[in-house]
Amino acid sequence: MVHRALPGDAGLMAAIHASCFDRPSDRPWDEAAMAQLIASPGVLCLLGAATHVVAAPAGLLIARRAADEAELLTLGVTPACRRSGLGRALVTKALEDLRASGAATLFLEVDEGNEAALALYRSFGAQPVGRAPDITRAAPTPRSSALPFQTGPPMMGKSPIKSHEDQR
Ligand SMILES: CC(C)(COP(=O)(O)OP(=O)(O)OC[C@H]1O[C@@H](n2cnc3c(N)ncnc32)[C@H](O)[C@@H]1OP(=O)(O)O)[C@@H](O)C(=O)NCCC(=O)NCCS
Repeated sequence: MVHRALPGDAGLMAAIHASCFDRPSDRPWDEAAMAQLIASPGVLCLLGAATHVVAAPAGLLIARRAADEAELLTLGVTPACRRSGLGRALVTKALEDLRASGAATLFLEVDEGNEAALALYRSFGAQPVGRAPDITRAAPTPRSSALPFQTGPPMMGKSPIKSHEDQR
């Protein structure tokens, strides 16, 4: 079950994010940062629960849209609820909502060694691209060794998908 986050969800989102990104190099996004994102126009904040595992929300996704391009800022599912379909449910809902609001392409970056995320995004048809757009590069924690990806047609339904000249 996936739904849009409300202002009162900022603390929960921060807790989920901290649980998902707990490596020493990770910088958790605090409650204030989450509240700002929830309140920002053009930012999609989703919470999701794997209700057959735990009733409480255990996953989040945040994406920012500018005109017809969007960028996935973060996606995470708490360790206890992984491999239960929640990550896929969050991405599916985000794509529906972003497309409905006018996005034609979703950009994202993935650490080269992040096999779970790579497999998830590839299962939606995401393709590696040479660069990500500048307009939405304000993610709080850009990652090192990140691979830029963009969605493929299966991810966004039947609309034509913008492609970049510098694909590689
Ligand atoms: C990436 C992440 C969000 C996936 O969430 P999830 O709820 O476990 O994913 P799902 O159960 O919906 O799995 C969907 C698909 O992703 C792929 N996948 C997920 N976990 C995987 C793993 N550990 N190894 C290989 N493939 C994996 C599979 O293709 C899977 O489909 P399948 O179950 O039919 O085989 C989760 O592992 C996570 O939060 N990781 C830490 C944070 C992170 O790296 N976020 C992404 C930043 S770019």
